[in-house]
Amino acid sequence: MNSSVAARAVNLEKKYGSGDTTVHALKGINVEFAAREFTAIMGPSGSGKSTLMHCMAGLDRVSSGSTFIGDTDLAGLNDKKMTTLRRDRLGFIFQSFNLVPTLTAAENITLPLDIAGKKVDKVWFDEVTSRLGLTERLSHRPAELSGGQQQRVACARALVARPKIIFGDEPTGNLDSNSSAEVLSILRTAVDQDEQTVVIVTHDPRAASYADRVIFLADGRIVHELREPTVDSILKTMSGIEDL
Ligand SMILES: Nc1ncnc2c1ncn2[C@@H]1O[C@H](COP(=O)(O)OP(=O)(O)OP(=O)(O)O)[C@@H](O)[C@H]1O
Ligand SMILES: [Mg+2]
Repeated sequence: MNSSVAARAVNLEKKYGSGDTTVHALKGINVEFAAREFTAIMGPSGSGKSTLMHCMAGLDRVSSGSTFIGDTDLAGLNDKKMTTLRRDRLGFIFQSFNLVPTLTAAENITLPLDIAGKKVDKVWFDEVTSRLGLTERLSHRPAELSGGQQQRVACARALVARPKIIFGDEPTGNLDSNSSAEVLSILRTAVDQDEQTVVIVTHDPRAASYADRVIFLADGRIVHELREPTVDSILKTMSGIEDL
């Protein structure tokens, strides 16, 4: 298998529920995410973006078809192996931030590394948390942080561990434009300098314009793709998809 492919889906289908209430969230997705590339996934609400991210990151089982991280077919992994693979190779920024309420911001950020028994790169930790404006909030628990601060902690947690692949589900969804630009520029640098692979879901054309490639989903299918996107070309494509 081509080692330049960080993750891929083959004929991926995902259904929720059964019988009359079945929701066909993904209807045959074929996609490759190249290593050291930044991909944005866009599309209307309910088009299957989060479902695709969850299936790619092994957080949800597929109904049919396959998903791979590198050469590893996720269907072949038991829960323990899946947990290990996620821990060692993936970072995930959730739509809900998934912070541990009893831990401080700093402890939440280093949790993946602590669990893996890896050392925290203090210089990198300081840089990420300061660029995200978290330095003064590190000893606070999530309940003492604003929504945007919680989201930045979730971003820092994914970034500080420097995973091979970062999946982000609307990682800048609750952020003001300054914080959003910081998160996106750190993600961009992760790809350009640290050879990481980034895949994010976003509704924001400006955020998507940081990517090398934008994939558009509608009703569970990939309907369009842009390379070297600009805010302009993204807006044009979005209005075309709404007219479908
Ligand atoms: N756990 C679930 N059970 C049943 N249906 C679900 C479940 N999760 C998602 N769905 C349905 O699957 C479809 C795709 O949902 P998904 O969350 O992937 O959309 P999305 O593109 O991420 O939307 P948004 O932009 O609003 O986050 C929707 O119709 C949704 O209602
Ligand atoms: Mg979603």
